Amino acid sequence: MTDDQLIQEARTAIGNAYAPYSGFSVGAALLASDGRVFTGVNVENASVGLSVCAERNAIAKAVSEGAREFEKMAIVTNSDEPTMPCGVCRQVIWEFSQDLPILIEASGGSRVATTIAELFPHPFTTYRQP
Ligand code: THU
Repeated sequence: MTDDQLIQEARTAIGNAYAPYSGFSVGAALLASDGRVFTGVNVENASVGLSVCAERNAIAKAVSEGAREFEKMAIVTNSDEPTMPCGVCRQVIWEFSQDLPILIEASGGSRVATTIAELFPHPFTTYRQP
């Protein structure tokens, strides 16, 4: 799967974002090592702190379906600027992939390519086995 195809999966998913409170829509597409793609969108709540980010929803869907090894994540937003994943999502992504390539695209098409290793160099690891 090409980068453009993975971005397109995230763009298709973003139409399902539920963001009536912030108006900020996010779509994520996660390519698993077995070739499956798991998408996620942000799902907000009237109790605003309960809102869940697109990236974590994609990870939760994948793990729920038995995928734990990942090749790449694409993230798209309805913002003019590429938007970096929040700190909570970085920790959750890192749990499953310590060097995951991440592509982030703004609404106008400007793109940033990074990795979880670059975005999250100091994870919380206290309970992890060596
Ligand atoms: N959001 C994400 O989906 N991913 C992030 O990494 C940061 C923020 C969502 C949560 C909320 O629905 C909206 O963007 C505004 O914070």
